[in-house]
Amino acid sequence: MVANRLPVDFTVDENGDVDWQRSPGGLVTALEPVMRGADGAWVGWSGAPGLEHEPFTADEMLLVPVTLSADEIERYYEGFSNDTLWPLYHDVISPPTYHRQWWDAYRKVNLRFAEAAAAQAAPGAVVWVHDYQLQLVPKMLRDLRPDLRIGFFDHIPFPPVELFGQLPWRSQIVEGLLGADLIGFQRGGDASNFVRAVRRLTKHTTRGPIVTVTDDDGQITRHVRAAAFPISIDSKHFDELARKPEVQERAAEIRADLGNPQIMMLGVDRLDYTKGIRHRIKAYGELLQDGRLDVEHATLVQVASPSRENVGAYQELREHVEGLVGRINGEFGELGHSAIHYLHHSYPPEEMAALYLAADVMLVTSLRDGMNLVAKEYVAARSDDQGVLVLSEFTGAADELAPGPLLVNPHDIDGMKDIIVAAAHMDHREQRRRMRRLRRKVMSDDVAKWSETFLGVLTAMPPRTSHV
Ligand code: G6P
Repeated sequence: MVANRLPVDFTVDENGDVDWQRSPGGLVTALEPVMRGADGAWVGWSGAPGLEHEPFTADEMLLVPVTLSADEIERYYEGFSNDTLWPLYHDVISPPTYHRQWWDAYRKVNLRFAEAAAAQAAPGAVVWVHDYQLQLVPKMLRDLRPDLRIGFFDHIPFPPVELFGQLPWRSQIVEGLLGADLIGFQRGGDASNFVRAVRRLTKHTTRGPIVTVTDDDGQITRHVRAAAFPISIDSKHFDELARKPEVQERAAEIRADLGNPQIMMLGVDRLDYTKGIRHRIKAYGELLQDGRLDVEHATLVQVASPSRENVGAYQELREHVEGLVGRINGEFGELGHSAIHYLHHSYPPEEMAALYLAADVMLVTSLRDGMNLVAKEYVAARSDDQGVLVLSEFTGAADELAPGPLLVNPHDIDGMKDIIVAAAHMDHREQRRRMRRLRRKVMSDDVAKWSETFLGVLTAMPPRTSHV
């Protein structure tokens, strides 16, 4: 497994002692249970600058740290990955920045990851590369180790070629990905966007999901498949967690601490502009203004976990969100009744499960989201078949979970307000009917099934070099 992040984030204190904690985000949530059961190595960055560390075992996983200097973190991670690719791949919600020095760093760091993977992999091994930070690795790795079977999975959306075409290095990215035998995406739409980009930007030919890669002389060298493999969570583990008496007690305690509101709404996101947090809070504030909700009966808990804090667009977002929360609380809050409980923290899975259990309505209002695993965690936690999931149309999860959730377009503030009110008033029978439907899907299509399906297709593919 090769991913930008290891599942643990290192911190080094003043005495030089190294400590670690769980890394943020959906990729680690999904991949950690897959790797726990596998006999393999996870190659990734430790999260700290300049830290050199030997491979080590943690939680039954062999972790192989890749070192990034402070300068590389700035150019490859904060720059090209999170200020160029991330906004470009999420519908340019924030304008992407194109810097040639960032691209140089991206290439250099991708090569380092490819070399680290090449050094770890046994002859003929399967190597699975992940996400937008490492799109050049499949080709670099194939050049170093033609014996390997290489898969790639893109955890975020793949944009339409009309947007992707802005990228000055668009052809290199497509060629980098085509080094894989199998390229997985969250939605069918992402896979077809990629195939269209291949047709528009390269000389290779395509037929349905198959790309036929040709060399400079027009000779066919390989076939690559691009298809959708929607990711999931360790549903059973989450379900069991939420059934624990101490988690259920904690859920009751959370509600009591909030003053036992009739309706507790919940948002859980990395503090990211793709998540539609501002749109959600604006709609909520207007509902209080209009008198359709009131602070004595309803409250919103917004967990916004810190993310990418050195990137300007994230700093601006934090200011906007915190300004908005302050204004709404100032205007509508009463002693003992806050309109919004805003928590700029991340919490361990037990606390998350308790929050999900406590929440009557879960608000997932992303403007664009590869999958959104928070929506699936909420469903997995609700073995009581209660609770309402409000879910943005612009998530991969909406493609999979409809018609169980109440779908919203977060740009349509009036429409979203009506849906939030409908969710708050939904009767228990209707909640049960919808939640059962959601749980059938989430509990059966878990992350183990996802990885087995992907690896099954990858290993069953015909031999690597075929002249047809
Ligand atoms: C998303 C991405 C992951 C990333 C995570 C957290 O889930 O798909 O690749 O690791 O966000 O972001 P960060 O920049 O902290 O790794």
